[in-house]
Amino acid sequence: MTIKTQAKDRLIVALDTSSENEAFELIKKLSGKIGYFKVGLELFSSMGPKIIDIIKDNGDKVFFDGKFLDIPNTVSKAIANIVKHKVDILNVYMSGGANMLQEAKKSLVETAKSNNLPLPKLLGVTVLTSMTSDVLENDLKVQTQLNDYVLHLAELGIKNGLDGIICSANEAKLIRDNIKNDFLIVTPGIRPSWAQNNDQKRIATPKEAIKNGVTHIVVGRPITGDKDPVSAAEKILEEIEDAIRV
Ligand code: C5P
Repeated sequence: MTIKTQAKDRLIVALDTSSENEAFELIKKLSGKIGYFKVGLELFSSMGPKIIDIIKDNGDKVFFDGKFLDIPNTVSKAIANIVKHKVDILNVYMSGGANMLQEAKKSLVETAKSNNLPLPKLLGVTVLTSMTSDVLENDLKVQTQLNDYVLHLAELGIKNGLDGIICSANEAKLIRDNIKNDFLIVTPGIRPSWAQNNDQKRIATPKEAIKNGVTHIVVGRPITGDKDPVSAAEKILEEIEDAIRV
């Protein structure tokens, strides 16, 4: 695989919009130029699963960022429904606990097999990148340090059969150094030096993320909010290529 193809596969663009037209415009501009389109709660609650079908029929890959968290039975049913739409990556909250994670994986494997689909990758969300240690300590009363808590959740996920984890780039190195299996690390909160932080708190540049052992970066507003999303994506791809080369 060339460095260019590798870089492309590692860029996930978050289609965070409620407008069909805006989503279609972005898909048209970026199709074939990036690795995955991420469909999250905003677009999904506006368009439903048809947006996944549209992207897949167009030949692009989909990360469905539904962040499922519920009782194991409900999560496993929801996973089965989404897998049938041929998503490539999907996710659950690690805080659902071991049993929920196992049931999610089991449902994914069974549904993919019975529908003759390639196995999608199942990721676990650790702690949102918009959250700080203050929120963890005071709002959620989690007494463990943020880094240790993220590492703990990552270990829980990998132990229970997940293919990868979602965390900030700042924790990626700690996780790579401590968990030896081969797994994906996907990080949002990516801000190139030329972009605004918005509401993200635990941020890193694309280059820092890749150097910390991140396999895929999720970028939303720095691309989708740019007046020229294609050139913003190209700049980020160049930065990923540079980081892979080193
Ligand atoms: O616009 P921005 O680049 O901040 O978008 C980041 C995307 O990643 C959003 O779609 C957000 O829902 C998602 N995300 C996140 N933090 C996580 C998991 C997902 O920001 N831990």
